[in-house]
Amino acid sequence: MKVLVVGGGGREHAIAWKLKKSHLLKELYCAPGNAGTAGLATNVSISPKNLGALAVWAVEHEIDLTVVGPEVPLAEGIVDVFNEHGLRIFGPTKKAAELESSKAFAKDVMQKAGVPTPAAEIFSDYESALAYLQQVGAPVVVKADGLAAGKGVTVAMEMEDAEAALKECMLEDRFGTSGSRVVIEEYIDGREASVMAIIAGDTILPLVVSQDYKRLEEEDKGPNTGGMGAISPTPVVDDSQVESLVDKIFVPVLKELRTRGIEYLGFLYAGVIVNSAGESKVLEFNCRLGDPETQVLLPRMQSDLLQVLDAAVRGTLSSHELRWSREAAATVVASSRGYPGDCDDGKTIDGLFDGDDDVMVFQAGTSVSESGEIVSKGGRILVVSALGNSTAKALEKAYEGMSKITFDGMHFRKDIGGGAA
Ligand code: GLY
Repeated sequence: MKVLVVGGGGREHAIAWKLKKSHLLKELYCAPGNAGTAGLATNVSISPKNLGALAVWAVEHEIDLTVVGPEVPLAEGIVDVFNEHGLRIFGPTKKAAELESSKAFAKDVMQKAGVPTPAAEIFSDYESALAYLQQVGAPVVVKADGLAAGKGVTVAMEMEDAEAALKECMLEDRFGTSGSRVVIEEYIDGREASVMAIIAGDTILPLVVSQDYKRLEEEDKGPNTGGMGAISPTPVVDDSQVESLVDKIFVPVLKELRTRGIEYLGFLYAGVIVNSAGESKVLEFNCRLGDPETQVLLPRMQSDLLQVLDAAVRGTLSSHELRWSREAAATVVASSRGYPGDCDDGKTIDGLFDGDDDVMVFQAGTSVSESGEIVSKGGRILVVSALGNSTAKALEKAYEGMSKITFDGMHFRKDIGGGAA
């Protein structure tokens, strides 16, 4: 098969790495890819936001299957555009992707479906939002309604942080139109796990559970990021609990979507928080694989990902099941100085090494300079993932791999796998 992966981060490098192992694969392309995917696939210099150009390119190159990594093209309707061109693509339609692109839509679906989720109110007007915030007090969670690259959620322990977050969203336009509507949500004290599945209509194939570490700094300090590391399995949600979470979360949500005329095809990610009493609630949905969770899930996956995704698009997913390594996996993210704010690009990355199936380097924000060096480009630059017979061993190997790599302004958390997330 000729396969196109849309996206250019660490998740897409990991997807390309996994697809490359399939005996069904003939040619692999990434649009736009990065310096890491260039070693596995042909990078195609088309932006993931340029849906029309991607579709025309895919028709011209007779692409058999497209796999979409990031949320932005899904939210903008890449699946609808590819379907209109008669192209086969794995991902949800624009309407289904609203589960991620509108937190208000997701909340409404969850409430109607009876899925446990923190209480919330939605506001489009700053004065009413502020009055509500002052009524409920801190701790409280303020979320930009739309997409914000993992940076639009503020867990405010103090009122002044909540009010500042509200201002950033609604008055200062930090997230553009994504923040013109906000969701103000009940704060839940607990630990988070990432529960994902491959979905095609009624068929739900759950992935093993993972946990990401969202704060920039150790001990759960600093701003929220897209994720600074991940482990799988996680003590927060045992793999044996997955079936009951599928029944409690995915089954009713898919049923509720169907009542709205929406069939779901794609990855679906539930961010689940578990409190000290063991009760779980869904904080959010993503319509894609997590980043950096993918970089621990795919190393553990023994099944042929391409075969499974192809079956999902063909409507034969129910005859497949997923097989997993019993080994644990860990990944550590290296980011640039300034992340999650503005970063300096163009820093030479030294010590990059060819990984294997035990210790892997997945590049994220990298490009090749005019002089042929691999340089930084963006916030999260690369991850090192590793497998091990325990989480501790996987972490030791990931950190050992990371210790070989350097670039100016490089930052990574030293406590991935610990209690703070
Ligand atoms: N790591 C969180 C996310 O992918 O949304």
